[in-house]
Amino acid sequence: MNEARRKLVVGNWKMHGTHAANEALLEALKSAGPLPCDAAVCVPFPYLAQAAERLARSAIEWGAQDCSAHSQGAYTGEVSVGMLADFGCRYVIVGHSERRALHGESDQLVADKARAALASGVTPIVCVGETLAEREADDTEAVVKRQLSAVIHTLAHCTGEMIVAYEPVWAIGTGRTASPEQAQAVHALLRAQLRAATPQADRMRLLYGGSVKPDNAASLFAQPDIDGGLIGGASLKAADFLSICRASA
Ligand code: PGA
Repeated sequence: MNEARRKLVVGNWKMHGTHAANEALLEALKSAGPLPCDAAVCVPFPYLAQAAERLARSAIEWGAQDCSAHSQGAYTGEVSVGMLADFGCRYVIVGHSERRALHGESDQLVADKARAALASGVTPIVCVGETLAEREADDTEAVVKRQLSAVIHTLAHCTGEMIVAYEPVWAIGTGRTASPEQAQAVHALLRAQLRAATPQADRMRLLYGGSVKPDNAASLFAQPDIDGGLIGGASLKAADFLSICRASA
């Protein structure tokens, strides 16, 4: 394991939660005590202030699940990174496969969002990953390289400041996890691509996401290029999320 890279476990709540349910979840996270990794939850926009308030002075940070590529203007329904930064948002997920697939987000739009995030001092967690059809057609490498390359090209000398999450689309919410070896193979490719782009590549954190659960987290996190996880379903239960965090030890 690379000592320069402390593991990071990020919950992606997606479009789940209510004010009351979040109170219980956030309280359980907050009272967990010290964790062996960095940890954060990315919550729906209306609950950002609740997360900020409830997680203040705790070990757990918080973030958003998307942002606009624009800084302000006539973009009804959009949220700028400046607004997120305004009350202390630490992370923003960009390019999640659900946004790429359901909202038609292109590689370049994802890259522009990552650039907007860094410009406002918020760390983007940039998601890449292939669909099942792409994997079966042996296109995994080409797809993730294309997705990452758009971001590298746009961020240029700031490339080293992002976090990358490899999330094979076929493993998201399906209960079908990539094996540790499959995930490591793609992480190694991504790391090599980053090394060619930035001297900071070996300090960058590359997360794995897709059906990470308490019982498979340790074997994934033990891989040399897997520096933590992006956790969907299992982040909605405090006990599961915390046991995934502890699996990073
Ligand atoms: P999952 O989601 O853990 O429920 O598979 C991961 C994600 O979409 O970020």
